[in-house]
Amino acid sequence: MVVFLPVLLAVLPMLLVSCQGAEGERQEAEMNRFIDELMTRMTLEEKLGQLNLPVAGDIVTGEPRISNVGDDIRKGRVGGLFNLKGAAFIREIQRIAVEESRMGIPLLFGMDVIHGYETIFPIPLALSCTWDTAAVARSAQIAAAEATADGICWTFSPMVDITHDGRWGRISEGNGEDPFLGSRMAEAMVRGYQGADLADPTTMMACVKHFALYGLVEAGREYNNVYPDDYHMFNEYLQPYRAAIDAGAGSVMAAFNTVHGVPATGNQWLLTDLLREQWGFKGFVVSDYTAVEELAKHGVCATLEECALQAINAGLDMDMVSDGLEGTLAAAVREGRCSEAVVDRACRRILEAKYKLGLFEDPYRYCDSTRRAQVMLCEAHRAEARRIAGESMVLLKNEHVLPLAKSGTIALIGPLADTRINMPGTWSVAAVPEQYKTVKEGIEDALKGTGAKLLYAKGSNIWYDERAEEIAMVFKPSMRDPRSAEAMRAEALQVARQADVIIAAMGESSEMSGECASRVNIEMPDAQHDLLVELLKLGKPVVLVHFAGRPTVLNWETEHLPAILESWFGGSETADAIADIVFGDVNPSGRLTVQLPRHVGQYPFSYRQMRTSRVNEVGEFIKYITCYADVSSWPLYPFGYGLSYTSFDYTNFCLSDSVMPMDGTITASVDITNTGDREGTEVVQLYIGDRVAKGVRPYKELRGYERITLQPKETRTVQFAIDADLLSYFEPYHLQWTIEPGEVEIHVGPNARETQMRLMTIQ
Ligand code: BGC
Repeated sequence: MVVFLPVLLAVLPMLLVSCQGAEGERQEAEMNRFIDELMTRMTLEEKLGQLNLPVAGDIVTGEPRISNVGDDIRKGRVGGLFNLKGAAFIREIQRIAVEESRMGIPLLFGMDVIHGYETIFPIPLALSCTWDTAAVARSAQIAAAEATADGICWTFSPMVDITHDGRWGRISEGNGEDPFLGSRMAEAMVRGYQGADLADPTTMMACVKHFALYGLVEAGREYNNVYPDDYHMFNEYLQPYRAAIDAGAGSVMAAFNTVHGVPATGNQWLLTDLLREQWGFKGFVVSDYTAVEELAKHGVCATLEECALQAINAGLDMDMVSDGLEGTLAAAVREGRCSEAVVDRACRRILEAKYKLGLFEDPYRYCDSTRRAQVMLCEAHRAEARRIAGESMVLLKNEHVLPLAKSGTIALIGPLADTRINMPGTWSVAAVPEQYKTVKEGIEDALKGTGAKLLYAKGSNIWYDERAEEIAMVFKPSMRDPRSAEAMRAEALQVARQADVIIAAMGESSEMSGECASRVNIEMPDAQHDLLVELLKLGKPVVLVHFAGRPTVLNWETEHLPAILESWFGGSETADAIADIVFGDVNPSGRLTVQLPRHVGQYPFSYRQMRTSRVNEVGEFIKYITCYADVSSWPLYPFGYGLSYTSFDYTNFCLSDSVMPMDGTITASVDITNTGDREGTEVVQLYIGDRVAKGVRPYKELRGYERITLQPKETRTVQFAIDADLLSYFEPYHLQWTIEPGEVEIHVGPNARETQMRLMTIQ
C-alpha cells in the first residue's frame, strides 16, 4: 500500500478532474435536454421575449405596483429587469413571470452592483490600489451575499476597461492603467461574485464590461470614439476582458463605442470571432443601455429592425432597454429577413444562464428576507469593508505629521467633512447613506474618551460657481451652503486658529467621477483651493484627506502641504477607515494603480511608455528629445507609489541565472526589510523591460507583485518565477503571442520609477 501511495497521490488529481469532467458533461447534457424541451413549446414571440431587458417603466421601488411592464411580463415579452431593489418587490414580480405568463419562465434580476450592495467597498479604482486580490474577491463575495438575499442574481460588474486618461470619469469604475494588475483584479472579482457554483443562492452571475476598449475614448470624453490598433489592443487593452472570461464570467456587456469602425453592439468580429471562436466564451452578451437603437445614431443602420438584425447577427443576445430585438424581429423572421436560428441561439444562451443560476429549480431562491435580515450591512461585512477601505487609501506625502496623536485640538475643515451622500462613491445603486458615517463622525468616534477636542467648519462649497456645483452633485440632493464664500471662509479660519492641527477633507464630490463625468479641469476645485491657501497661512500643519474618483493634479498641494492622504471614495466605512489611518491605528499600504499627472495636458499618459527613438532620461525639456517645453513629462507620483508609516529596504536582488532558455524558468529574488519601528505592509513589484523584440516594447511593464506584511526589522525574501508566459507578447508581424531571444531587463522596486535592474538573456 505504502509503495502505491505516491502513485495514487499522483493520479488522484487526474482522476478527480476526469470525474468532474464527466459530471460536468452529464450536467450539461441534462441542461440541454431541459432547454430543448422548453424551447419546443415556446412561440417565436416568447423566445424573443427572453432577449428583452426593458427598463422597469412605472414599476416603483417599494410597493409592488405593476402596470405596463407587468403586462409585458404576463405576455412573456420580458427576459429580465434591472436596478430594482427589495426582495419582497422582486419576489412579487417574479411571481407574475412564473405564475401568470404562459411558459412560466423566471426573470433575471440584474443590478449595477459595482463595489458593494448596502455594505459599500471602495470604488474599483481604489480597490485596485490595495493590490490585494484576496480582499477584492472578498468584497465581491460580500456584495453577492447581500445582493442575492435581496433578489439580485446578476451584476453588471466587473468593469475592466483599461484607460490612460484621467479626464475620463469612468476611470473610477476600473482598475487603473495596467493590464497585468487589471487582469488579476478582473479574475478576483469574477471569482468573488460567482464562487464555485452559480446556483448557490449566495452567489451571482458576473457581467464583464464594457466589451471592448471603452477606456480609449478619444480625449477622455465620455461616449466618444476609440482608435486602437491591433498591436496595442492585444498586448494591453484586451487582456483583462480575456482574464475575466477565462475566470468563468457568465456574461459580457458590449461597449457603447466602435471597434475598428463598427459599433461593438453590432460587431461580429468582436462578439463572435474573438469572444466566442478564439476565446471560447459560452455565456451570453447583453447590450449597454439603449445601445441597440443607438446603432442607428452611429449611422450604420437606418431602422430599429436593422439595428436589431445587425446586433443579433453579430452575436448579441440580450437588448437592454431599446426593445429592438423583441420589438422588431418577429416580423423580420416571418418575412425572411432574419433566420429563426439566430433567435434560437440567443434565447438558448439566456435560458442557459437562468438554468445555471438555479432559477428553474426555484425562481425565488434569491429573495430571502430571513437571510437579508442576517447579512445586510452586518457587523462582519462592515468590518471587512473598513479594513479594505484602509488598504485602498494611498499616503502620498508625509513630512512627520501623520499619524496624528489623539490629543490637543484638531480642526476638521472642508465641504467633504460632514456629508454622508458623498461617502460611498459613484455607482452605489443600493447604498443607504443614512447608515454611513460622515468623516466628522468617524473622527469623533476615534477621539471618544481621549480628551482630544474636534472643531469643525465647512469652509467652502465644492465650487464657487453654482452650475458647476449642480453638475458635481447631479442626481444627488444639493448640499450647497447659501452663505457667501467669504463668510464660510472666515468661520473656517476662526475655527482653525484654535487648533493645533488642521485636517482638510476636500477634493471631488462623488459624482464628479463615474459615467458621463469627463473633465478637463482635474485640479482642486477653485473654492477649496482658495480655502487651503488661507488655512496654510495660519502656520499650522495641514493634513489633506483628498477625495477623488480619478487621478488629479496635486502640484500645489504637494509643494505646500506637509501631508496628503489619497482617500478616493472608500465606501460605506470611509469615515472610520480615514480615522484609522490618520490616527495610526492602521498603517497605510495602498499603492497607486494610476500615476498622478502634473498637468491634464499630459493625457493620455501611462507608465507603460513604449520605447521611443528619442528617449528622455530626465523628463525635462531637451531640444529634439521627447518632452514638453513647459512641464516635465514625468508623473508627479508614479504608478505603484505609496508611503507607509514605516520604511522598507530592498537588498540582495538577484536572478537565479542570467540566461534563460525559451522554455525555461528563472527566479528573481529580493530581500525586503522593514527598517522602521512599526509593522507595515509593502507591495513588492516586478517589472520587465524587453530590450530587443520585433515589436517595440514598453521600457517597463508590471509582471508580478506581492503584498507582504513585516514586523519591525524583519526581513523576508520575495521570489518571482519568470517564464515564457510572463515574457511573451503579441508580436506585430504574425499577430500572435510569442517569445523572442534577446536581452530583457528585470526590475524590482516599490513603484515603477524607483526600481533596481538586472539583465538576463533569453536564448
Ligand atoms: C452603463 C453601464 C451600466 C448600464 C445599466 C449604462 O449607462 O454604461 O455600465 O451597467 O447603464 O445601468
